[in-house]
Amino acid sequence: MATITIDGQPLEVDNKKTIIEAARESGIDIPHFCWHPKLSVAGNCRVCLVEVEKLPKLVIACATTVADGMVVHTNNPRVVNAREAVMEFLLINHPLDCPICDEAGECKLQDYAYKHSVGYSRFDENKVHKPKRVELGPHVLLDTERCIMCSRCVRFCDEVAGKPQLTFTQRGTHVELTTFPGEQLDNPYSMNTIDICPVGALTSRDFRFKSRVWEMSSTETVCPGCSRGCNMYSWVRNNEILRQTPRYNPEVNQYWMCDAGRLGTFKHVNVENRIRTPLLKKNDEFAEVGWDEAYAHVASELRTFKKSEIAILGSAYATNEDNYVLRKFAGALGVKHLDFVRHIVEGDADDILITSDKTPNALGAQLMGVHSADGGHSFDQIMNGIGAGEIKALIMLDDNIASSQEIAKVLRQLEFFVVLLSFDCESTRLADVVLPSSTYAEKNGTFTNIDGRVQRIRPSVATLEQDRSMDGFAMSRLDKFGTQFDRWARGMKRDARASWRIVSGIASVLGSKFKFSSAEDVYNEIAKTVPAFKGTSYKAIGNKGLAIQQKRHAAVPTQP
Ligand code: SF4
Ligand code: FES
Repeated sequence: MATITIDGQPLEVDNKKTIIEAARESGIDIPHFCWHPKLSVAGNCRVCLVEVEKLPKLVIACATTVADGMVVHTNNPRVVNAREAVMEFLLINHPLDCPICDEAGECKLQDYAYKHSVGYSRFDENKVHKPKRVELGPHVLLDTERCIMCSRCVRFCDEVAGKPQLTFTQRGTHVELTTFPGEQLDNPYSMNTIDICPVGALTSRDFRFKSRVWEMSSTETVCPGCSRGCNMYSWVRNNEILRQTPRYNPEVNQYWMCDAGRLGTFKHVNVENRIRTPLLKKNDEFAEVGWDEAYAHVASELRTFKKSEIAILGSAYATNEDNYVLRKFAGALGVKHLDFVRHIVEGDADDILITSDKTPNALGAQLMGVHSADGGHSFDQIMNGIGAGEIKALIMLDDNIASSQEIAKVLRQLEFFVVLLSFDCESTRLADVVLPSSTYAEKNGTFTNIDGRVQRIRPSVATLEQDRSMDGFAMSRLDKFGTQFDRWARGMKRDARASWRIVSGIASVLGSKFKFSSAEDVYNEIAKTVPAFKGTSYKAIGNKGLAIQQKRHAAVPTQP
């Protein structure tokens, strides 16, 4: 340990830390562009200059290790003067296009220009012009003029993604970021470069010009794209998800997430083919009905089958709460044929974040007991049972198993098929009753990731159910710029309910009162009855999750 003083504050710090790290630990923020806590030190932007007593020149805080007795000044007139000079230098060739730049509102350069710059330019010459709108890869666009050559993106590709695809060419003010000859910025993590670029040089081709950052709300949630469960923010305007960005969690994903999770998991929430009300099939046509009628119909149909003729499928896409209530429902009904489908894409895992299990909660579904017992059937046996005419009714939660033609052929033999799903697909078309379930972005709940970490998801967009049952919660989430018309047109008409609530509704008509009024109620019962979850709570899970079993995989091994 070393005893140092930063701005008059005595600190005891690990003597391997740099000044910038030591300062951060004590809540002192030293301005920085090129330094990033999970990348190697480049030391090229010079905005982190500080004064260390007894040293003749100012030093950069990101590359200077602390030493016992060191006295550091981060804000005295000499440092402020030097920082202003660095800012003036960085801004010489930077375009003055904040009003049309996507980064405005979350741009480090813009923030520092307000905080650490003199507020005017002495530069009368012409700025150097460089290529604009360069397609670096499928997801990232470069405005070369905005780049301040901090090299964060270059180091990210080398050190974290393990794919050296970016580099600099030319010298001095003519330096340009580019890809290596014949290369594209197309690694599976390429969009993290957009997040860490401290200016608007790198922008997302998907999100570009869709919204100003201050027009959106952000919600802390978890990516449902695979069993890693990367923590993320869901960004919403007018009840529509516009982008997803990673949220720091040292135990799961550090600062990163993959492009597939970021882009591939929210478009279906916004799509037009959402199921908007419960549907009953009459004479091969779907008719829209109310929830009570749908529950009553399902209950009365189920009563006509023997227990051994009914099978239930949970879902690795659904939350712990959904699967728990479904398993409880199966128990109350005396149904033994219970399972869920795994969605594994062999060979699609890497040693960074991506796993081969493309569902967020397979471990959770398993721990909730969604599997057959005492002579009950597994998924394959259930399909065989349907084929043999022994199983005649099926209730399926949040999955589209009929996308396989082979399975669809089997499902056509069912006498009664109930599907809880959020969007129109092969499975809903085969169903006799379709009950619109909320997507992960419209409900509270928890997923258990591949490492046995239980993490919370939260609603970022609203459905009618939330607005009714949460006392105006949904309205308060809506962006202040959203008009009444927008709200209804863009999603408030989705009368979707969380699957645990739908299953509780059917159970109640059948005579089992589950008495859950919120996802947290369900979780509290899980915490009392499911051994692995004993003693846990939403509060203890917090926004970073809680390990309920020994980790089987190392957390993101992405250290420089
Ligand atoms: Fe830095 Fe952004 Fe330029 Fe990359 S594009 S070097 S992250 S300023
Ligand atoms: Fe230290 Fe850039 S942050 S030189």
